[in-house]
Amino acid sequence: MKVVVADTAGFCFGVKNAVDKVKELLGSDEQIYTYGPIIHNTQMVDYFMEKGVRVANCTDDVDRPGKIVIRAHGVMPDVYDELRNKGMDIIDATCPYVKKIQMLAKDHHEKGFKIIIIGDREHPEVMGINGWCENSAVILENEMDAEGLEGGEEKVCVLGQTTLTREKWETVNKMLKNKFHNIIMYDTICSATSARQKEAEEIAKTVDAMIVIGGKNSSNTNKLYEICKKYCNNTFRVETVGDLLPLDIKHCNRVGITAGASTPDWIIKEVIKKMSELSKQDNGMSFQEIFEDSLVTLKTGQIVKGKIIGFNNAEVYIDMGFKSDGIIPMEEFTDDPDFKPEESLKTGEEIDVFVVRVNDGEGNVILSKKKVDAVKGWDKIEEAYENKTPIKVKVLQIVNGGLIASTFGVRVFIPASQVSDRFTKDLSEYVNKVFNVRIIEYNKAKKKIVGSQRVILEEEKSRSEGAVWDNIEVGKEFTGVVKSITDFGVFVDIGGVDGLVHVSELSWTKIKHPSDIMKIGDSVKVRVFDFDKEKKRISLGYKRKEDNPWNKAAAKYNTGDVVKGKVVRLVPFGAFLELDEGVDGLVHISQISNTRIAKPSDVLQIGQIVEAQITELNLEAKKIGLSIKAVNPIDLVSSQKEDAEEVKNPEDEVPSEYKEDMNISIGDLLNTEKTEE
Ligand code: F3S
Repeated sequence: MKVVVADTAGFCFGVKNAVDKVKELLGSDEQIYTYGPIIHNTQMVDYFMEKGVRVANCTDDVDRPGKIVIRAHGVMPDVYDELRNKGMDIIDATCPYVKKIQMLAKDHHEKGFKIIIIGDREHPEVMGINGWCENSAVILENEMDAEGLEGGEEKVCVLGQTTLTREKWETVNKMLKNKFHNIIMYDTICSATSARQKEAEEIAKTVDAMIVIGGKNSSNTNKLYEICKKYCNNTFRVETVGDLLPLDIKHCNRVGITAGASTPDWIIKEVIKKMSELSKQDNGMSFQEIFEDSLVTLKTGQIVKGKIIGFNNAEVYIDMGFKSDGIIPMEEFTDDPDFKPEESLKTGEEIDVFVVRVNDGEGNVILSKKKVDAVKGWDKIEEAYENKTPIKVKVLQIVNGGLIASTFGVRVFIPASQVSDRFTKDLSEYVNKVFNVRIIEYNKAKKKIVGSQRVILEEEKSRSEGAVWDNIEVGKEFTGVVKSITDFGVFVDIGGVDGLVHVSELSWTKIKHPSDIMKIGDSVKVRVFDFDKEKKRISLGYKRKEDNPWNKAAAKYNTGDVVKGKVVRLVPFGAFLELDEGVDGLVHISQISNTRIAKPSDVLQIGQIVEAQITELNLEAKKIGLSIKAVNPIDLVSSQKEDAEEVKNPEDEVPSEYKEDMNISIGDLLNTEKTEE
């Protein structure tokens, strides 16, 4: 038969601290009290009573001055006042975990939160915590209590008894989240408890019989028993070796043993010894050896492996197999201000931790993950520096002259001039951004690391620039990004090199400004018109041949067709009609009316739609001659006629620069118009 003893069996540091404090006082001339039984273990309490220690169950029980030890469960604030008023010397052994919950209850109560405690209503720890929020807390013992609770919009702070099972904590919290929207939950389950429960569960799953040792009134022993029973039918609860049932060990290959937080070592030892006798097997190791063999020794500065056994927003709890669990304050876990423990951490996950202090004065082992990361990080950064490989950093803050970023838990300075390949006035756009840098200075002795994103960007740019010049050809298409817009055109980055699309190459139709067509940052397809490698100039085209409206007009119109057009411009010698977007034709003044008119505006106005016949069609030269007269001449009414008569020769009204045009063909007139544009 193999006996498997839980590493976590026996006193937790909170109970051990309280028992040690009483032990230290034994032999004193003064009367020694404990406020309530110092632990949930009759044998231990009896032992102290034999030594003269009295148990005060309330302040009235304190009838003569002396010293009083507050047990690990803690008490309400009133108790301290009453004891002080009685002149008692208070030795406070409230477990630091419990103290923390009391402070959370007090702070949040003062800030107007409704306090909810998940735990046993009658347990001294829960009663004590409730006292710190003026006994205003709602106490939920189970899911049924949570079900019956009315939700609302008020601010709610949820705390848990330290010995609560994680399963209950999670289930009840899930229910509460559905009832309250303004809720904050502190996972206050003691890491020693959760580690003990987890280990008990794991052992119970693999043994034929499980023995849980602990006082009958010990809440955490009761919970251990419940957990073990769930996974091993043959689970027995004993307070001392005398309760050990005559197990039919012939059928047990493996027996597991665990013990509650208030179970003294000697009781565990007796049970182990008895089990060993029963098994009549000698594995060559005494309990002392088995027990001590399972404990790890720690030294400040050591890097050890540990398992995450719990966490909240402020701390991560680690089991290293040491007699006490370790605490990593969140600021020693990561530099990332956006780090969300519930998304990134998993209980059971193994990590390397750095021992900062073996005992912080309250029995806690203080650890750091950042220091481990930093030790490893310096090596990685040195390697990246030597090999010139880029390294990913996250920007933490702006400092004088640049940015501070973090990588592998190490801080990297990025001077403002090295942040980008372009001048950046406001560095705040980089805060919290992640990007690659090249380490350009590394000095471990001076703890100085300087990074540059600029060198990476410049190298990338020159690489892609080279590729563009190597492959550039007239007519080749590129997808580029609009970099800047001017009155005369648009500069497009086609992969590290900028080319210019002249305004005339942006659109087939007339535009007021290039910004009518594009905006900075647009991704556009452009075609190379021309380039000069020496002068590093590239002309690009954006408008596409297939969109040329004159090509479409070629398929659509024939000489003799009657078309509808809009008057878009009036000149002394005629009127321009828009047939389609980008396709205009000219109606010579002589082709407007059967009567003599002095100027086209006598009978036409901008925007007017008229019918005309196509009299000349030269689409290659982009010329269309039109005649309104051939379809529906627009004659002057008599009053207008008189005005017109005053002008004997309409050519006299034509501005001198057009006079020559009066003797040339429509096509030539259109050419004149084009030049004028
Ligand atoms: Fe404290 Fe946890 Fe023990 S809360 S008393 S260390 S079980």
